[in-house]
Formats: sequence, C-alpha cells, structure tokens
Amino acid sequence: MIAVCCDHGGLSLKQEVLRHLEEKGLEYKDFGTNSPESCDYPDIVKPLCQAIQRGECDKGVIICGTGIGISMAANKMKGIRAALCHDSFSAEFTRRHNDSNIIAFGARVIGPGLALQLLDIFLNTPFEGGRHAVRVEKMMALEQLD
Ligand code: RB5
Repeated sequence: MIAVCCDHGGLSLKQEVLRHLEEKGLEYKDFGTNSPESCDYPDIVKPLCQAIQRGECDKGVIICGTGIGISMAANKMKGIRAALCHDSFSAEFTRRHNDSNIIAFGARVIGPGLALQLLDIFLNTPFEGGRHAVRVEKMMALEQLD
C-alpha cells in the first residue's frame, strides 16, 4: 500500500501521482489535502508517517511546493527515511543505499513527467543491504541519542 499526501502547493502533482498509481493498478491511500486552501504540511504528513510506522503502508509519496518542508517534517518521525528527489540518480540510489521509505517532490520544482518517472524508479528499485544496512541502522539509531 502506497501512502500519498501533499499540501496545497502539491495538490495538482498529487492528482497526477494518484492517476499514475491507478493506471499501474497499485493500491494507495490518500492522506490529503484535497483542497487548494492553504494548510500546514506537518499536519498533513504526520498521519501518513504514522501509517508507515504501523506497517499499514510500506512506501510514501509526499509533495509540497519545494518538497523541502514536507520531507524535513517527515524525517522528524521515527522509522521514516524521506528522500527529496528531483533526478533519477537520487531516486534510484536512495532506494539502493538508504532504503528510503518515502519519496518527496517539490511541485514547484519539477513537472509531472519527470516526477512520475522518478516515482517508478523509486518503487521498482530494491535496497542493496550489506554495508548499507549497517549504515541505515546507525542512521536510525541517531534519533534515539538526545
Ligand atoms: C507553501 O506555500 C510552501 O511553503 C510549502 O509548500 C513548501 O514549499 C514548504 O517547504
């Protein structure tokens, strides 16, 4: 199950993402927003991250204007590894090396054509494990230090 959300800045790109997932026959859950009214991305992304933490969704797609605020907010949450990707190399290697569970897009940065191509790469690339698993484990332990 793929979790998807956006703030008002990402609404039209999220609609393209949902259409794309439907065309591919992939199951998703839409966590909003579904209004062009201004909203706060931390409020929107928190329930999506909780669904990933509970194992109800395995991957997520999150979108705001730049992709920065919403990915920063998501990465505050335990077990979340959100990667802001606007190029194919990053979309592939954040899966291979970081085992990212969320891809973030900036709807005011890239167009839907590139975003959907990056989404496919993200969804279809496996984690390599090995030495990268050690690093991911160390990275996730950092959040327990303070
Ligand atoms: C909303 O105007 C904008 O600040 C938000 O979508 C995002 O870009 C923040 O990082």
